[in-house]
Amino acid sequence: MPTPVLLENPLRQGLSSGRTAPPCSLVIYGASGDLTVRKLVPALFELYEKHLLPVSFNLIGISRSVISDEDFRKKLKDFLAKAKPQFSEAVWNSFSQNFHYIAGGYDDFKVYQALSARLDELDEKNGTMGNRIFYLSTPPNVFEVIISNLGAAGLAKEDKGFSRVVIEKPFGHDLESAKELNVKVREVFKEHQIYRIDHYLGKETVQNFLVMRFANSIFEPIWNRRHVDHIQITASEDLGVGTRAGYYESAGILRDMFQNHLFQVMCLIAMEPPVTFEANAIRDEKLKILQAIRPFDEHSVKHLAVRGQYGPGFLAGQKVPGYREEEGVNPKSNTPTYAAIKIFLDTWRWHGVPFLLRSAKRLPKRTTEAAIQFKEPPNLLFKNNLNTLTPNVLIIRIQPDEGITLKFDTKVPGMTMEGRTVNMDFRYGTSFAEGTSEAYERLLLDCMLGDATLFIRGDEAEAAWAALMPVIHHWETTEPETPFPNYEAGTWGPVEADNMLERPWRHWRKV
Ligand SMILES: NC(=O)c1ccc[n+]([C@@H]2O[C@H](COP(=O)([O-])OP(=O)(O)OC[C@H]3O[C@@H](n4cnc5c(N)ncnc54)[C@H](OP(=O)(O)O)[C@@H]3O)[C@@H](O)[C@H]2O)c1
Repeated sequence: MPTPVLLENPLRQGLSSGRTAPPCSLVIYGASGDLTVRKLVPALFELYEKHLLPVSFNLIGISRSVISDEDFRKKLKDFLAKAKPQFSEAVWNSFSQNFHYIAGGYDDFKVYQALSARLDELDEKNGTMGNRIFYLSTPPNVFEVIISNLGAAGLAKEDKGFSRVVIEKPFGHDLESAKELNVKVREVFKEHQIYRIDHYLGKETVQNFLVMRFANSIFEPIWNRRHVDHIQITASEDLGVGTRAGYYESAGILRDMFQNHLFQVMCLIAMEPPVTFEANAIRDEKLKILQAIRPFDEHSVKHLAVRGQYGPGFLAGQKVPGYREEEGVNPKSNTPTYAAIKIFLDTWRWHGVPFLLRSAKRLPKRTTEAAIQFKEPPNLLFKNNLNTLTPNVLIIRIQPDEGITLKFDTKVPGMTMEGRTVNMDFRYGTSFAEGTSEAYERLLLDCMLGDATLFIRGDEAEAAWAALMPVIHHWETTEPETPFPNYEAGTWGPVEADNMLERPWRHWRKV
């Protein structure tokens, strides 16, 4: 085996304590695609530079496109060389020496036999000890066929080393298909081998919900219905549907953002402290939150959920088309690009506290954050300042400008008792020397290490679908309450969303 290029100063590169992954082979299905080039391989390269990737590591890309090993490596390298400011050709050559590509159909059993033989050969040659990860980075319509062929080729067995399967989102299109997919995957792999990915959980700031809540004692006493007025979770995008119309037309905003990302963030905010910091203990608590979502019915969904679709408008001074004018979109499409949902959790901790979840395309800004708004003091003494004092809000910014802000009221210097709301700020960018890692870096490493904490368990995926299905069903079987498009690109969404807040002191944050 050729000697890998060692980086100059491993400590400066952020070498972390004891988390180097064991020897293994990573097989990526859909390797000719966007995710492999833009996210997976750059994440592996970062891990390699940080000395977190095992010295014995093979990558095999598989997809139908006919490309040589050389062309496969070149495509990956070209992207990285452009995207990475201090790209080193020497490090790349060392990193990619065990990269291979197999062209073949996902339903062609011979390809799986060839893969099995190649993996055995690479184990022998590079010392990867029979440890395998199969990463499904294809559209979901081929997940099942890949999984059943992996099983038939004996590649799910763990007799020599570990065998794990990573399944990209979306995990199912609805509750029924998620259940069916769970059944199919479990016919071949056991739950401990299955890693359902939601890349939001790989984000540093999302993991920080756990540290912030459970490593500090000041938050727990106020983290409940007695002190919290409501919680807003927002994921807004300024972009439109772009090139994803084919997928988006059949998915819409609820499937794309709520069933996975927003529900996961809600779980981390709302869950009870787990008994240990272990995958199943944490996932048990998240599952309880999903199961505690008060079920929507035909009546409540009309009051608790608002949908929208962007029309033409302006963003950053540029005229942008409406959703129905985007390439690949049905000109009469009723696919929602905006959703706001008020969720109640039937638990002792959160009884009566609305969780306001909102996500949309073509809003004025790209932001993801959670804002915990606390109740007003029971007796406000400063009656003259009612317009300048606001309730306390704890804002956890997931992206961009990652950090935490606490809004609180303070006295303005001077001879009068004038109050004003100010910010206390923590920013990842200025508080730490090292930058935050890309989500896929963390998730790929965790999978190699066998740590499923940041992956979705099968019952969680089903519970999330079960909670959301009545809203999806209602929206797919009825006309929008206000005809689409009902908000202009570059604005904060349909006015109906304001009415769902019910109380005069509640406002959607203009993040
Ligand atoms: N891109 C992202 O940022 C992102 C983010 C989150 C999740 N995901 C998920 O990750 C997966 C891969 O994403 P991607 O952006 O890389 O997708 P992609 O480029 O559309 O697909 C990946 C590869 O799958 C193969 N493929 C495409 N359509 C197929 C079809 N109908 N039947 C069989 N094979 C097909 C293609 O390879 P061949 O034609 O060569 O076989 C393609 O290169 C998807 O499930 C996506 O939802 C992506």
